[in-house]
Amino acid sequence: MSLTVYVFNGPNLNLLGRREPGIYGAQTLADVEALCAETAGKLGLSLEFRQTNHEGTLVDWIQEAGTAQAEGRAIGVVLNPAAYTHTSVALQDAIKGAQVRVIELHISNVHQREEFRHHSFVSPVAAGIMVGFGTDGYRLAIDALHAKAEAEAMRA
Ligand code: DQA
Repeated sequence: MSLTVYVFNGPNLNLLGRREPGIYGAQTLADVEALCAETAGKLGLSLEFRQTNHEGTLVDWIQEAGTAQAEGRAIGVVLNPAAYTHTSVALQDAIKGAQVRVIELHISNVHQREEFRHHSFVSPVAAGIMVGFGTDGYRLAIDALHAKAEAEAMRA
């Protein structure tokens, strides 16, 4: 059975393609899912791709992914927490508590934007951070998560 890579997307990312295209580009969330499916397929991984506008749902999903990783069924999560990046102690606690491998991802370079986007509650508990590569960052993040999981499995 193949290992799962989870890709979780937070609030307003369902609007990709028509939401501030100058910042987030023209690709829709369905395009991003197709890119992730192609990338996962090349690596022999199963993809679980989701989006929610609700903070608690992200917490539930992170806990679910933590259980799957602990049971050896998943390599971890590529997480675009969107605006919850900058506000959510609950997300930080969930990632820490679930002990799940997370790559934090932002389509835009948040550090070139408003000051309030410069702080992340997720970064201190992320295994790595992918920022500012547009939607192509999802492909790069899945590759990076896979490499990290493999390296850690070798050391274990
Ligand atoms: C985002 C950046 C966040 O600051 C913003 O709230 C988003 C998207 C990004 O992908 O660039 O919704 O996470």
